[in-house]
Amino acid sequence: MFDVCIIGGGVAGLMLARSLPDSYSIAVVTKEHAGTGNTSLAQGGIAASLSFDDRPESHATDTLLASANHADAERVEILATEGSAIMKHLMAQGLPFDTDEFGMPKLGMEGAHSMRRIVHTGGDQTGKLLMRYLMEETSGKITRFAFHQALELRMESSRCTGVLVSDLSGKRSVVQARHVVLATGGIGQLYSETSNSSVATGDGLSLAYHAGAVLEDLEFVQFHPTILTLEGKSRGLISEAVRGEGALLVNGDGKRIMEGIHPFIELAPRDIVARAIERHWQAEGPVFLDARQLADFNQRFPSIYKNCRNHAVDPTEELLPVRPGAHFHMGGVRTDSYGRTSVPGLYAVGEVASTGVHGANRLASNSLLEGLVFAKRLAQWIGEEPGHRKEAGLVESDAPSPFASFEKVEEGKLRQEMTEVAGILREPRALKRFLAEHPLKTYRIQDYPDDLIALIHRQTARSLIASAALLREESRGGHYRIDAPEPKAEWSGQVIGLSTSGVHL
Ligand code: SIN
Repeated sequence: MFDVCIIGGGVAGLMLARSLPDSYSIAVVTKEHAGTGNTSLAQGGIAASLSFDDRPESHATDTLLASANHADAERVEILATEGSAIMKHLMAQGLPFDTDEFGMPKLGMEGAHSMRRIVHTGGDQTGKLLMRYLMEETSGKITRFAFHQALELRMESSRCTGVLVSDLSGKRSVVQARHVVLATGGIGQLYSETSNSSVATGDGLSLAYHAGAVLEDLEFVQFHPTILTLEGKSRGLISEAVRGEGALLVNGDGKRIMEGIHPFIELAPRDIVARAIERHWQAEGPVFLDARQLADFNQRFPSIYKNCRNHAVDPTEELLPVRPGAHFHMGGVRTDSYGRTSVPGLYAVGEVASTGVHGANRLASNSLLEGLVFAKRLAQWIGEEPGHRKEAGLVESDAPSPFASFEKVEEGKLRQEMTEVAGILREPRALKRFLAEHPLKTYRIQDYPDDLIALIHRQTARSLIASAALLREESRGGHYRIDAPEPKAEWSGQVIGLSTSGVHL
């Protein structure tokens, strides 16, 4: 039995592994190869109050304002205060960061921040270099199970004791652990247009749901305003930091589309910018990012520049067509401030968790920070007990791998359906129709073949999000209902929880 099994190997999972005592045996299970995931794709950076004129209180205020009055103020204070301390510590320990001529961190600007506070590295390669750093830091400390799909959480006497996994050959095993941690990331791949990695299919939501955990705030999905969109297809994220450096959002005639919509114009909270762009596309046609006036674009944003050039567009000379795409899930598995879920032995960190810090709309560059802060807190809580390092191992599952034929579902259709029903603009009749066709169900997961389990996880995540979106009869942050376009007082502060035992208000 391992001391800790972490499902997912992004910023939150690896920061947890880094922070646990060396006496611990730690398994890290990933669906694809070790570095695949949203962390490696993060461009903007990590928000943290580090400059002399900044304060954690100011970062917390910006986070709360962006959250559409839905974040938990105490948790936000933890995020901003401990986040600043953790970043100072990691930077002193060797986490790379871009510096100015005085050796001080260069700080970027992004939407809804009241000042420059985004630490970045390699220009726009923060996620990639952060992953490299955390992988190096944890390499001697963890046992990796790459290309292992997590099928089902194992429960004994109502406690989570491991996870049933399947390798590429279809062989099933159980990774047993005293503590099982979901760090599976997000849900972007449920939608047609997304900035997310191939692994972001909502598996963690389904694993937790089937284990009886409470999930919450699932209706709040963030759509990133600026995904490069060529011939109707998403071609990669264009960081908000590009707007932070002065790029403008314009229509085909060069007129700024955000003027008159929000006082921060291009740097308004993400939900507001994303809706404005989507509405413009639907009513009047394409929206473009004009970054031609930015100095040294290719040095400040090398990977965005490269991606644009690979798609035969030049951001220094041309307008870039942009449209929103699914980017981040604010909701997830309900946790306390130490990552504990409602199921003993089961924890959640990173995007799959609902820690309450993002509310209805996440502030830019708070996601990597959340992963770092709450993973460290979970390590503190778990790490209080001594580890049992020698007992590590993998147990072959006695459950037979079933063979069953099932109708192949066309993935593109599923994504399109989700985009129409639970995308940027939502309508209750469509949500009801969707849920009549795809009601929230529980399955005896191990009875199904691996491909079908992947589909069950995807479908469970879809139905959870749609159910929450139907229940919340108002608009707030990343949840916009066409029939109720404003926030309502009766929904203020109301969190919707869902579990196999029903709705928890
Ligand atoms: C971006 O660089 O715009 C994305 C960063 C984030 O999601 O916070």
